[in-house]
Amino acid sequence: MLDDAAQGFGATYKNRKLGTFGLATGTSFFPAKPLGCFGDGGAIFTDDEELARTLRSIRVHGQGSDKYDNVRLGLTARLDTMQAAILLEKLKIFDDEIAARNKVAERYSRALGNLVAVPRLAPGCTSVWAQYTIRLSDGIDRDTFAAALKAQGVPTMIYYPKSVHQQTAYSHYPVADGGLPVSERLSKDVIALPMHPYLDEATQDRVIAAVRSALSA
Ligand SMILES: Cc1ncc(COP(=O)(O)O)c(C=O)c1O
Repeated sequence: MLDDAAQGFGATYKNRKLGTFGLATGTSFFPAKPLGCFGDGGAIFTDDEELARTLRSIRVHGQGSDKYDNVRLGLTARLDTMQAAILLEKLKIFDDEIAARNKVAERYSRALGNLVAVPRLAPGCTSVWAQYTIRLSDGIDRDTFAAALKAQGVPTMIYYPKSVHQQTAYSHYPVADGGLPVSERLSKDVIALPMHPYLDEATQDRVIAAVRSALSA
């Protein structure tokens, strides 16, 4: 099993951190991610020695034990030293940042839970709230809602407007009748509110008030 923890790095399932399940787990340190560096970065976690050796080789253009002998086709995928230094510092405060994100999510959910569908955690799970995504009820036009928030200085994002199976790159693959109706519906209904660990309560309240007023307009 290969896991993707790009948006869940730091989260747990039954008290186990993501990254400890399966054969290997990838994550991203892109700035928008919960543990972000200041540019591009990422990591792969595995307990499998053989796989780790192969991945290290692929990371440095396929080098073998003689570093000028490339034994496979690889990538240039080193983590830049500056980014690593930034990540080491940010790791020290990562747990505090996760706690702060959870507080924001709890406050949003308490204030908005009776107006829109708010995210719910599955049993046994904790979240790092890479995003805080709400789902609008039928009959609420998402573009109008986003424009109303924007007019009040509240940015929103759509994660994601197109499902994977709708990507142009996959258009030549067969899709069953009806495609993936749940994914397709969610991609039209969801909208993400501002979320980061340094969102103070006054700003959260502005976001909440903007959502309320956009829904009652
Ligand atoms: C779930 C998930 N996996 C993988 C990636 C890719 O990360 P990167 O662009 O750093 O390779 C992203 C980035 O948005 C993501 O959200």
